[in-house]
Amino acid sequence: GRVAVFMGGDSAERDVSLKSGRAVLSALQSAGVDAFGMDVRGCLLRTVEAPEFDRVFIALHGRGGEDGILQAILEQAGIPYTGSRVLASSLAMDKLRTKYVFKGCGLPTPDFRAMTSVAEADEIVASLGTPLSVKPAHEGSSIGIRKVWSVDELVEAWQVAAGMDDLVLVEQWIEGPEFTVSLLQDRALPAIGLSASTEHTFYDYEAKYLTDDTSYRIPCGLPPEDELRLQQLALDAFRVVGCRTWGRVDIMQDAAGDFWLLEVNTVPGMTDHSLVPMAAHAAGIGFEELVVRILKDTLP
Ligand code: DAL
Ligand code: MG
Repeated sequence: GRVAVFMGGDSAERDVSLKSGRAVLSALQSAGVDAFGMDVRGCLLRTVEAPEFDRVFIALHGRGGEDGILQAILEQAGIPYTGSRVLASSLAMDKLRTKYVFKGCGLPTPDFRAMTSVAEADEIVASLGTPLSVKPAHEGSSIGIRKVWSVDELVEAWQVAAGMDDLVLVEQWIEGPEFTVSLLQDRALPAIGLSASTEHTFYDYEAKYLTDDTSYRIPCGLPPEDELRLQQLALDAFRVVGCRTWGRVDIMQDAAGDFWLLEVNTVPGMTDHSLVPMAAHAAGIGFEELVVRILKDTLP
């Protein structure tokens, strides 16, 4: 049947999604799949009224497309779609509650708090220390994330994050290096090590999409037993959140060598700068085969 690649949308990650969607669409088409692209804006319910497609490849990032709302609408309409179902999508889009689940399952994640007002800043710095990472809980691509070293900076960063989201997460900053593990058909692909250039204090939006001076290490440089441990941790994170088919888990390593889970992405980027395609390539899976495998998992 006909496949619609849903892309764009109304989230802050719209531009990234358009790039992901176009890349996915052209790969599906060159693999001989009858596919077309759909920029999904406004009312999601309208997209399933008299649909001219039989399956959906979800290439939407962020709120509305990655967070379970679209998934629920497609479930209700009986239209198969790629990736995680409703609950896992909603949970993974909420970085705070994802961490509650990690913690409850005994998986390592940096110590954290929800911050609901500037009045809490002193107490948070006193209890968590610095530096801290301040994040809008439901954004992706590092949008709105700041690293802070003081109460004043925390207040300022909270105001930025609270302007984007009704929920703000503050967590202990792990200096890194950062790793990411991609999952495909519920198996871990080779890990990637990431370092942003010195201009970026971490792997932020600009480092992710706009510059070429981020370095990616694949193989990731860890001894094989550590990479296995990292991959197992990613699989555990994927499993406890309830994800399926594909995704990407972001993980920090501290100076002592321990790994700390940051988050799970249920619709990771698929642009030419993106990590899942890079990891798949290292496993001998080309981009076309990658998208076809993700699509295949929509079939019963
Ligand atoms: N949220 C972006 C698209 C990612 O995780 O790759
Ligand atoms: Mg994310």
